[in-house]
Amino acid sequence: MKILILNGSPHLKGPTSDMAMAFMKGAEEAGHTVTNINVAHKHIRGCMACEYCREKEKGVCVQKDDMQEIYPQILSSDMIVFASPIYYFTLSAQLQAVIHRTYAIDIPANVKKTALIMSSGSAYVYGPAISQYYQSIVEYWGVENAGIFTANDKMNMSQEKRDELYRFGKSLQG
Ligand SMILES: Cc1cc2nc3c(=O)[nH]c(=O)nc-3n(C[C@H](O)[C@H](O)[C@H](O)COP(=O)(O)O)c2cc1C
Repeated sequence: MKILILNGSPHLKGPTSDMAMAFMKGAEEAGHTVTNINVAHKHIRGCMACEYCREKEKGVCVQKDDMQEIYPQILSSDMIVFASPIYYFTLSAQLQAVIHRTYAIDIPANVKKTALIMSSGSAYVYGPAISQYYQSIVEYWGVENAGIFTANDKMNMSQEKRDELYRFGKSLQG
């Protein structure tokens, strides 16, 4: 499979990235092709709701920022992994911007499954993010949820979490 990780953490060595990289290692060892994009280090503006993509040029976003390199990656992937720290009970603004900007391409026809990786300070803070993920991605795109992984407090940067994500990547079929 062609797998795309959209990592919304600004910390390239933080727990979100740590889990994403462990997943990537396992998935690559299982023979998948994995691309990781640190979207928090890209220049991606919020959707302007101009409707250009729907009314003028179907599927084309009028904003010529770094999202232009991400659109083809999303469209050509079989699986997308969303990775994010929890900010105020939901996904980071940087990852939210990417999700909102998929308005231009709407449902990516090639994507068959998705997963969600989240890191937080506290436990029991994932409800809004999981709800958004299910409604906006899994149900709206009509894809399979391959897994939801969380780490908080002492589990952040732990070998146990790393192993869990590695095993998940390694177990992926297709
Ligand atoms: C702006 C901001 C908002 C945050 N909001 C929450 C929150 O609502 N609940 C929580 O448990 N942790 C919250 N945190 C803590 C982060 O989720 C936590 O430090 C996480 O491990 C960061 O992951 P990262 O270093 O991989 O980006 C917040 C951190 C920041 C900077």
